[in-house]
Amino acid sequence: MNLHSRKSRPSWSGQLAFILAAAASAIGLGNVWRFPYLAAQYGGGLFLLIYVLMVVTLGFTLMTTEVAIGRRTRLSGMEAFSGVHRGWKPLGWLVTLIPVIIVPYYCVIGGWILKYIFAYLFNRHLALEKTVETVSATGEPVVETVTEIVHVSSPDFFSAFIAHPWQPAVFGSVFILFSMWLIFSGVRKGIERSNKIMMPLLFILAIVISVFALFQPGALAGLKFYLLPNLSEYVKDGSFDFVRLCKTCLGAMGQMFYSLSLAMGIMITYGSYMQKTDSIERSVRRIEILDTLVAFLAGLMIIPIAYALGNGPEVMQKSGPGLLFVALPQIFTKMTLFGLPFGRLLGAIFFILVFFAAATSSVSLLETVVASIRDRTGVSRRTASILTLVYTLLMALPSALGYGHGPLGGVIVHGMTFLDLCDYVTNNVMMPIAAFFTCLFVGWAVGSRFVEEEVEYDGHPFRAKVFYRVMIRWIAPVLMLILFVTFVASGLGYFSI
Ligand code: PFF
Repeated sequence: MNLHSRKSRPSWSGQLAFILAAAASAIGLGNVWRFPYLAAQYGGGLFLLIYVLMVVTLGFTLMTTEVAIGRRTRLSGMEAFSGVHRGWKPLGWLVTLIPVIIVPYYCVIGGWILKYIFAYLFNRHLALEKTVETVSATGEPVVETVTEIVHVSSPDFFSAFIAHPWQPAVFGSVFILFSMWLIFSGVRKGIERSNKIMMPLLFILAIVISVFALFQPGALAGLKFYLLPNLSEYVKDGSFDFVRLCKTCLGAMGQMFYSLSLAMGIMITYGSYMQKTDSIERSVRRIEILDTLVAFLAGLMIIPIAYALGNGPEVMQKSGPGLLFVALPQIFTKMTLFGLPFGRLLGAIFFILVFFAAATSSVSLLETVVASIRDRTGVSRRTASILTLVYTLLMALPSALGYGHGPLGGVIVHGMTFLDLCDYVTNNVMMPIAAFFTCLFVGWAVGSRFVEEEVEYDGHPFRAKVFYRVMIRWIAPVLMLILFVTFVASGLGYFSI
């Protein structure tokens, strides 16, 4: 085992540096790409409500726990559990495995963002092959394949792109190489610093787009769908659909872990670099608020647009991971300034800002994988990075090409493509299990004092101490168990959302 020396471990320069670094990891594609389509799929307002409740209860409990474990042990996610209590090594393995599975498909989505930047900047088109039915001169029905040229603002652009035989793999690979380059070159510090400008800009742009979207005819119905919980959707044949509610809760919980970078050892590692004198409780609250605000805004921007464009809830639910890429470009084409088409520029700027958010998150994911390999094997940083790079490039292929017609395309497992499957299994199965055992670890194996003492270190008050104690010991594990058991019992291997 090759642990970093605890004494020489580097640390953030202060509380603000920790908050910014953790927020840079947390705010990413999870907020802008994943949150809006899940909110659309799981019925809008109710999902939003459950999500916010999850963040302030479970999210707060788990983030506090992870940061405190990291700061107290000065160890990374892989080693921290066994470093405190022998026998808990498997939990370290589990939390380390999660980013390993996420990283390749995360970079594939990063590649989608890159493609959109490229398409907006250079006004690119794609060829889309469509089958059309016509009638021959003799009156016979004929099925023909026609090639249509689609522009980035067309709703068909996304499907043409992800089905392309090589482009998603190339753009995904460029994203991976770019992220690895950031890790190596030291430019990363610059990127993180520039995020202080980029993130507020993303914020402002999202507000501008949301306001514009809300003035489109039909958008208010979307706003209502997004903000107001509608329980009637959960009534089936006159009785309440409890299983569906559990699935929604599980989806919201998985999203909350993903978005806050929880249950994957990352906040433990980040906490291990935190200064002893900083307030854990205050930092955790700020990271949660920032992350949730960005997700909320992304939903506000995308869902009413999808509605205004005539994509009622049914279409929205079907568009799934493509929602961001299908809805936004259509609104950009409508945006004009003093009569000039302004949308192309806005589209490029928007996707560049999302790209920055995604890059800082993917860097933190990749670095976790590099650090785990080093901690385990003791190899040099260079070797670990090369191994990570090769693995990510190879494993990204089935996700990148899974929507196409090539040999890797069309593979469907439990109704999902490879990308959806990796996303679903990590978020809805592995993270809840990791979070459940983290609660047992603190609540029952080592005792909540372990975390409480760390939060109160240096005279900081722990305002939510009683709440935390009850959550970590009872409410969090019981809630997760109920959700998980209902989910499994609702049909083993039945993954429909
Ligand atoms: N929290 C990130 C997002 O919402 O996009 C995803 C993520 C980044 C998860 C980094 C884990 C991680 F280490």
